[in-house]
Amino acid sequence: MKGSIGVFDSGYGGLTVLKEIVKKLPAYSFLYLGDNARAPYGSRSFDTVHQYTLQCVEWFFNQGCSLVILACNTASAKALRTIQQKDLPLIAPSKRVLGVIRPTTEVIGSYTQTNKVGIVGTSGTVSSGSYPIEIAKFYPTIKVFQEACPMWVPLIENNEYNNPGGDYFVQHHLKNLLNQDADIDTLLLACTHYPLLIEQLKKFTPAHIKIVSQGDIVAKSLVDYLKRHPTMEEQCLKEGTIDFYTTDSTIDFNNKATIFWGDKVHSKHADIS
Ligand code: DGL
Repeated sequence: MKGSIGVFDSGYGGLTVLKEIVKKLPAYSFLYLGDNARAPYGSRSFDTVHQYTLQCVEWFFNQGCSLVILACNTASAKALRTIQQKDLPLIAPSKRVLGVIRPTTEVIGSYTQTNKVGIVGTSGTVSSGSYPIEIAKFYPTIKVFQEACPMWVPLIENNEYNNPGGDYFVQHHLKNLLNQDADIDTLLLACTHYPLLIEQLKKFTPAHIKIVSQGDIVAKSLVDYLKRHPTMEEQCLKEGTIDFYTTDSTIDFNNKATIFWGDKVHSKHADIS
């Protein structure tokens, strides 16, 4: 039986990725789940992020999805490997779960001239060391500098980013990052929420630094994955539909999701327990 492609985030951030995926694959059907009831994930332990993410992945499987994208760096950093290596072989050996870190690290070398890349992400993503480890596999000469920005997701989730308070925290973390090395020429937004801050980031980042968002990168990588995995591609429903689910209030989700999605969203409640 065919199923939608699942796209997961702890909250709203994955919508910035889904938007780019739908532009490239409009014929496919998608199921989005935001675990808003338990977001943010950024400051939670490995075990907790793994447990929450696995429950959500199982929910997608129960909805008939064969392919799930973790459009969340924190979940990709802290849960993906265990899910792929330990959980999937036991619970659903023919299904696949992909993340956002690998596709991003594969191409990051094409953005930098100085071989110095700055990364902003949640505390969880930064402390996992996933980006420096993965980038070293593809580009051993690139030096990676990281800065955890624990306030950015709560500011975005509460729609409190586009004001002087938001400006303060954006500048504060950018300064911490850029002070680590004057030759950083690429700023990777390693959190799917951060594209919402793009105007502020542009305002406070020196013009020669390229700001890289993941949506388009992950979308291109999915197109390529489906070409390379025809058996999986055949299991993907192509009715051009998008269904939105949240583990929290649908009213709140519909109101806030519009900021990320750019259009009205009608969500349904998902009971994850
Ligand atoms: N959007 C998620 C990410 O890409 C993080 C949000 C959170 O802290 O829950 O890391």
